[in-house]
Amino acid sequence: MQPPGITADITHRRPWEGRPAAQQPEWQDHAVHHEACRTLESAPPLVPAAEIRQLRWSLADLLATDALLLQLGDCAESLYECTPRHTAQKLQVIDRLGNRLSELAGRRVIRVGRMGGQFAKPRSQPTENHGALVIPSFRGHMINSELAGPRTRQPDPRRMVWAYEASTVVQRAMRAHRRGGGRRPTADGPWSSHEALVVDYESRLVRRDPDTDEPYLGSTHLPWVGERTRQPGQAHVAMLSAVVNPVGCKIGPTASADDVLRVCEALDPRREPGRLVLIPRMGHHRIQQALPPIVRAVANAGHPVVWLGDPMHGNTVKSGLGLKTRHLTDVIAEALHFRDILEGLRQHAAGLHIEVAADDVTECIGGPVENEEGLQRHYTTLCDPRLNADQATELIEAWARGTRTSRA
Ligand code: PEP
Ligand code: CO
Repeated sequence: MQPPGITADITHRRPWEGRPAAQQPEWQDHAVHHEACRTLESAPPLVPAAEIRQLRWSLADLLATDALLLQLGDCAESLYECTPRHTAQKLQVIDRLGNRLSELAGRRVIRVGRMGGQFAKPRSQPTENHGALVIPSFRGHMINSELAGPRTRQPDPRRMVWAYEASTVVQRAMRAHRRGGGRRPTADGPWSSHEALVVDYESRLVRRDPDTDEPYLGSTHLPWVGERTRQPGQAHVAMLSAVVNPVGCKIGPTASADDVLRVCEALDPRREPGRLVLIPRMGHHRIQQALPPIVRAVANAGHPVVWLGDPMHGNTVKSGLGLKTRHLTDVIAEALHFRDILEGLRQHAAGLHIEVAADDVTECIGGPVENEEGLQRHYTTLCDPRLNADQATELIEAWARGTRTSRA
């Protein structure tokens, strides 16, 4: 028997199955894996189709009106920070930054959190060294533990169910927040988003919209494919091609214009406004060279994409003390280059995708964190270094000021 909300053909016809999928965990316990997949298949979707349609309309409207988009949150969510209290704190930061941007730019700002499912991380290295010990890398709480040991780093399929359950708590709090938003319309969010990385997890949460019968990804409003998993023809892109959600795609500095056109064709074959969000993350040294030919090609091909700058992921450096960090000056430089390039090519620079913590962390250098020594005060990220809210405010103010000047 099919669980409610799943029709036989969506569970049996999965166009991504059998395709290569990069960055997948090597689950060990097959019986437990099977059980976890069954649990997810029969669970209710985390977000309803109607909300996904609403976000698509909002993004289409953004393109029509030159409104703005702000996507922000942790690099990796923690399973231990999904309580209503933690979520309220994160939503407060989203409100603060979204309101500041809206006030300075004088425009509507649609808000999207990297939350309610951001539990899986792609890694450049599959293992890391701890003294003489070589252990698997941390891959996010959906897969393994950040604690450094050979056993704690084994992928555990039960974690997919724990991530689902934690996400239900976060999504419930976000929904209540959207409805109680006061003067701000519900359509402006905050909506949820995460990198759709673990194909086992995501594919079990594909559902059919009861009103239109179309398949949608019920794990989040706005899933994205990362720089390491955006190959057309492979599982991640095939999966997001098969659902009607708005979808994001990261673009790193080595992507060619042809690479990007191919992924646009796969994700947005009908050239629908509000469907595709392209997120360049090139690095402040490389963006001026790498981005313009891509923007020109996408515009010429007629894809009405939302352009969102990620000034974080191309600017990660190792500090002298061995901690991963980012310099706020580099982050601001890339954000401003991004906006200038888009505006120079008469395209809409819709906003920023940034990693920001709800706590007052010291993970990036800039503002109150003056130097590398300052990083050690409160460095708690599970993965990449995040801005604190003050540093993110400085970035947003620089962005909004530049927008004004360039239009004056
Ligand atoms: C991320 O957003 O945390 C991430 C891993 O990004 P990218 O795919 O751009 O490296
Ligand atoms: Co990150």
